[in-house]
Amino acid sequence: MILITGGSGHLSSLVAARMERLGLDYVVGSHAARSADGRRRRIDFDDPATLDFSGIDTLFMVSAGYGEDDVVIRRHDNVVSAAETCGVRQLVYTSLIGGGDHLGFALAHRWTERRLRASGLSWTILRNGLYAELIAALAMPENGVIRAPFGDGSIAAIAREDLADAAVTVLTNPASHIGRIYELPGRRAWPLSQFAREIGAEYRPASLEEARRGLSSPPLLPFQPAMLMSIYSAVSAGFLADTLGDLEQLLTTDPRDGLDVACRAVARSGG
Ligand SMILES: NC(=O)c1ccc[n+]([C@@H]2O[C@H](COP(=O)([O-])OP(=O)(O)OC[C@H]3O[C@@H](n4cnc5c(N)ncnc54)[C@H](OP(=O)(O)O)[C@@H]3O)[C@@H](O)[C@H]2O)c1
Repeated sequence: MILITGGSGHLSSLVAARMERLGLDYVVGSHAARSADGRRRRIDFDDPATLDFSGIDTLFMVSAGYGEDDVVIRRHDNVVSAAETCGVRQLVYTSLIGGGDHLGFALAHRWTERRLRASGLSWTILRNGLYAELIAALAMPENGVIRAPFGDGSIAAIAREDLADAAVTVLTNPASHIGRIYELPGRRAWPLSQFAREIGAEYRPASLEEARRGLSSPPLLPFQPAMLMSIYSAVSAGFLADTLGDLEQLLTTDPRDGLDVACRAVARSGG
């Protein structure tokens, strides 16, 4: 039996839909679920009492990364500890691409990878690239102008659906992926100026200082400005442009085009 955490999230929903189509044996954990109901159970990383993984062979642990490092580390430690106690055979963790080491949320991912390596569990680490859909959301044009401070940097963003396909390849036959770390960037890198051209917008990048000033007021949570700024800085400095990775090993079809996915995300939002 496979358990997918973060069940109401975008990535987990895509993974669960694929598992359903393939007729695989799975359950979904969600911190928002009130109680166990059919394929759904309450799994809240913040509440160790809900982390009952008995009967689970493979745990697909989707990072619950929205928080300060100490919060995320505590959450992830709770999950790995419960998996050890409950005799989970293998844990598949959605981490962050190697090139993302300068991002504000990298530390909690690397801490979790280290915790897994030191655990008694078999593990597989999926180092996910930044989503094309996320870049589209951060570079949404206003009145035809993109002001996001990505500079001249290119980004090898990846379609969330490709990451879901890659995860399902691993979950379908977990034993053959034990001890593997897969780097999963998009297949090609594109600058924001190209994205702007494709969607018929103008790219007029703001400076990091201007962007930070714009982020300093609510409704952002206190930890969010630093995380967002780190994405702009890392892309701008060219740290997320590397397309070398392992995606093709896990996909049975050609990867989706990240730029195309980002453009369609803008079109869907009416931007
Ligand atoms: N690579 C990237 O570009 C990128 C971008 C954004 C985020 N991420 C990371 O990748 C993860 C998956 O991405 P996504 O697009 O699916 O994000 P998402 O749609 O925001 O889903 C995240 C899910 O995490 C679950 N969650 C929140 N708090 C939790 C808790 N205390 N315990 C257990 N689960 C909790 C929630 O699902 P339930 O309420 O069902 O539990 C939530 O829906 C995110 O959580 C984040 O850590 C990656």
